[in-house]
Amino acid sequence: MRLWKIPDQVIRLGILLIIAVAVLVVVRIKFVPESFGELGHYRADAVTVVASQKAGYGGWQICVECHDAEGEAKRTSYHRTLSCEVCHGPSAEHANDYEAQTPVIPRARGEVCLYCHAYLPSRPTGFPQIIERLHNPLKPCIGCHDPHDPTPPEIPEACSGCHAQIARTKAVSHHGSLACETCHEVAPEHRESPRAFVPKKPTAREFCGQCHARGADSPIEIPRVELSSHGERYLCWQCHYPHFPES
Ligand code: HEC
Ligand code: HEC
Ligand code: HEC
Ligand code: HEC
Ligand code: HEC
Ligand code: HEC
Ligand code: HEC
Ligand code: HEC
Repeated sequence: MRLWKIPDQVIRLGILLIIAVAVLVVVRIKFVPESFGELGHYRADAVTVVASQKAGYGGWQICVECHDAEGEAKRTSYHRTLSCEVCHGPSAEHANDYEAQTPVIPRARGEVCLYCHAYLPSRPTGFPQIIERLHNPLKPCIGCHDPHDPTPPEIPEACSGCHAQIARTKAVSHHGSLACETCHEVAPEHRESPRAFVPKKPTAREFCGQCHARGADSPIEIPRVELSSHGERYLCWQCHYPHFPES
């Protein structure tokens, strides 16, 4: 016999509700930290706990107070946006008392540099990246790059520094003895901004004719052609690759 006609499912829901309330009460009394809610929706004591933790990082501003040479080098360099401790690790303790802690110095190849400079397709194009295996392997990065001012050490002096393929091809060709400048007028600025100062290339058959025309005034014995009829109408380099000419 039932007193009230309460459906079974409501009774089950009621039981669940009572359990939920009981759990809430127990949690509130037993588990919520005492200082919770004093200052808002968090544990007020957390402030003192966090504040009492030791600071790991000092920030670059304090480092450069003592290490002005490194700070100055870095200030205008490619690495100006990097904090000292990116490479030297958390060093706040050292900054307070330099004998208490010695910051790490990542001298080994690839220890730190590759985090940022190893080639990854997802990095933005234009960000300087290298393929570790191919970029001057076996030598430590800092053997050539100053970590605080990592401008590449030198702009290659020789044309072959950038045009290695052409230089190697020419070296074993009949034109091996000719300097690049014999045929290309190159402004010195080409080495710094190659695309802004484009070297000149020969434009006319007469250029090759200086040496190869029959009767041309050339100090050494070289093969001659009749300029007016040999390969007429066409430029010489439409048939002969100038860096590896063959007949
Ligand atoms: C109060 C001055 C002072 C501050 C601030 C300071 N340093 Fe130094 N640091 C020194 C001195 C002095 C030495 C040399 C200690 C030695 O030779 O034993 C040194 C040495 C170093 C070295 C070389 C350690 C070695 O093994 O040769 C590094 C790297 C370094 N500091 C990084 C930092 C960084 C990064 C910071 C900032 C978080 C920093 N320093 C802040 C004074 C300071
Ligand atoms: C890109 C990583 C990098 C950054 C950023 C960097 N360093 Fe260094 N630092 C190095 C490396 C690598 C060496 C070791 C150089 C060597 O042995 O030739 C070094 C060496 C040092 C030394 C020891 C010099 C010596 O000859 O013993 C000090 C001091 C130093 N760094 C301080 C700083 C300070 C201060 C900053 C921030 C202004 C900073 N570094 C930023 C990588 C870095
Ligand atoms: C936290 C990231 C980071 C680390 C670590 C780092 N670099 Fe860099 N590096 C940069 C940034 C950012 C630039 C500037 C890129 C730009 O100007 O577009 C840069 C620029 C350079 C350049 C100049 C490239 C150019 O355009 O000519 C060289 C060389 C270089 N870094 C070498 C190193 C070496 C060597 C190390 C290790 C000692 C190192 N980097 C560690 C971020 C890093
Ligand atoms: C033997 C000397 C040498 C060593 C060792 C060396 N580099 Fe270089 N690096 C150069 C020269 C020279 C250039 C400029 C010409 C070029 O791009 O090859 C350069 C260029 C760079 C550039 C700029 C590339 C670009 O496309 O703008 C980065 C980044 C770089 N190096 C990082 C590193 C890192 C990281 C290491 C260590 C893993 C390292 N280098 C080791 C000599 C060296
Ligand atoms: C720092 C690297 C570098 C050096 C050193 C260098 N070049 Fe170049 N050169 C380039 C680049 C980059 C280009 C442009 C290639 C492109 O646009 O595809 C170029 C283009 C050229 C061109 C083609 C111009 C055109 O119209 O297509 C010639 C010719 C040339 N260089 C000759 C030389 C000679 C000769 C030397 C030595 C005196 C030399 N370069 C040294 C980087 C260099
Ligand atoms: C005998 C004359 C001659 C010599 C020596 C010579 N070049 Fe050229 N070079 C030419 C001519 C002609 C062209 C134009 C070819 C064309 O337009 O098809 C050219 C084109 C080029 C180009 C652009 C086209 C390409 O092939 O990429 C570059 C870069 C270049 N030369 C670099 C060099 C360098 C570097 C050297 C020295 C190692 C050199 N040249 C030596 C005659 C010469
Ligand atoms: C400064 C003089 C000079 C100029 C300019 C010059 N050459 Fe030459 N050329 C030579 C010399 C030297 C040889 C090598 C002769 C030998 O090895 O016996 C040669 C060899 C050749 C040969 C090879 C012939 C054979 O024996 O197979 C050809 C083809 C040639 N040159 C084409 C050209 C063309 C095309 C140009 C213009 C782009 C040119 N040369 C500009 C000096 C020149
Ligand atoms: C239409 C293609 C063509 C053109 C353009 C051309 N040549 Fe040739 N050249 C050849 C062929 C094919 C040979 C080899 C057969 C021969 O000796 O006629 C040759 C041979 C040569 C030889 C070697 C001659 C010998 O006696 O060994 C030289 C030097 C030469 N050419 C220079 C030039 C010069 C300089 C120009 C531009 C004024 C030029 N060529 C234009 C196709 C051409």
